[in-house]
Amino acid sequence: MELLSLIRAKRRGAELPAAEIHRLVTGIVEHSVADYQLSALLMAICYEGLSYNETLELTRAFIDSGVTLDWSHLPGPIVDKHSTGGVGDKVSLMLMPWLAAAGLTVPKMSGRSLGHTGGTIDKLESIPGFDVNLSGRQMEDVIKQVGCCIVAQGANLVPADKIVYTLRDATDTVDEMGLIAASVMSKKLAAGADCIVLDVKCGSGAFFTSLARARKFADIALRLGRDLGKPIGCVISNMEQPLGRTVGNAMEVLEARAALAGESPQPDLSALCATLGGVLLVTCNRGASYQEGQARMERARESGAALERFDAWIAAQGGDYARLEAARTKAEKELRLATVPALKDGVISDMDTRRIGEVARRLGAGRLTTADRIDPWAGILCRAKIGDSVVQGEPLAVLVRGPAAPPVPGELVREYQQAVAVSSYAVELPGIVLDVMPANRGLSIIGG
Ligand code: URA
Repeated sequence: MELLSLIRAKRRGAELPAAEIHRLVTGIVEHSVADYQLSALLMAICYEGLSYNETLELTRAFIDSGVTLDWSHLPGPIVDKHSTGGVGDKVSLMLMPWLAAAGLTVPKMSGRSLGHTGGTIDKLESIPGFDVNLSGRQMEDVIKQVGCCIVAQGANLVPADKIVYTLRDATDTVDEMGLIAASVMSKKLAAGADCIVLDVKCGSGAFFTSLARARKFADIALRLGRDLGKPIGCVISNMEQPLGRTVGNAMEVLEARAALAGESPQPDLSALCATLGGVLLVTCNRGASYQEGQARMERARESGAALERFDAWIAAQGGDYARLEAARTKAEKELRLATVPALKDGVISDMDTRRIGEVARRLGAGRLTTADRIDPWAGILCRAKIGDSVVQGEPLAVLVRGPAAPPVPGELVREYQQAVAVSSYAVELPGIVLDVMPANRGLSIIGG
């Protein structure tokens, strides 16, 4: 079929044949498909949707477009985690060494921030000396030493997704469930883990703003895992407010370590990590239930083993954590700060988390295009979150920029104020874990 016929077929709502999907993806990586025609096809897909079979074939074709990794010579189980993206999402920084402390092996590839969501690689690069570009051999050395490793995803892993994702981003065609599932799952499946847990974010700061859409995505991901031979578990987690207290690269690293050390006043972060770990442990048959796995995770943190592993891992990848701490002390005197005062007395009832993520990006914590530079100290310290009482004039948050950046514009202070609703009534605190769907059963065990 010519690409024009594929576009026509999709516009009429027809299902694309498997062979055509594979041919299309081959054409994409060979650069023989014109961007304007691929854009038209993506738009037709956004209107008509991809069926499950089309999503499965697209996932297969994406995986086949590049290399697939094999870690079977390392001591197992080899595990991986993926987040659909959020604001203040520092889970990978905590969870990977924590899983290693619980006896799992974690060779993880992560991405950079784009749009309103942060990226683990940018966070790690705020640690002086931390190397995110290790070779396969270097990764193995780090894993043998400490049990985990996080590197930037290489260009040869699912190259088709890289091309398609860039076009989706530029043509506002990101938002189709099958396209998202094929993009996320192909990368995870190609990365060679035995078992995977997905942190499906749901709420105002996430791709999926409703529980129904988050569950639908989780169901597709679980089916893809089953049909492509990988055990997968899903946790649907709350992204109605930033995760933890900080948004921004260096600040999130500092908060992640503090949370592992039990110093964080925010229980949501540790609770989410323990649940994700519990689901992974049961997914790879290291426990009878995810609750049992969760308890094992808690023990690994309370004993100090997870924190020890965090420190060993950062050092094994060349990071100098003490220099980050020292830079914080020095920078604290020179940082550009702007306090965001509450406009009235009351209780925080809602946070528009996407808007808050945009404020962080505009401060310099993220990027709009891949060419934008990150300010490691830029970000937000959320002084109050949903359910907290606030007093007019007292700080809702502090907006931060590095010493070399221009002062924080008043416009961003106002933007943050508008993103936070203060009400006169008490609100119910949202739980961090909304649903748990363990290994390929597709069964919600918290939700209905
Ligand atoms: N993250 C991805 O990797 N791909 C998508 O399509 C959406 C989020």
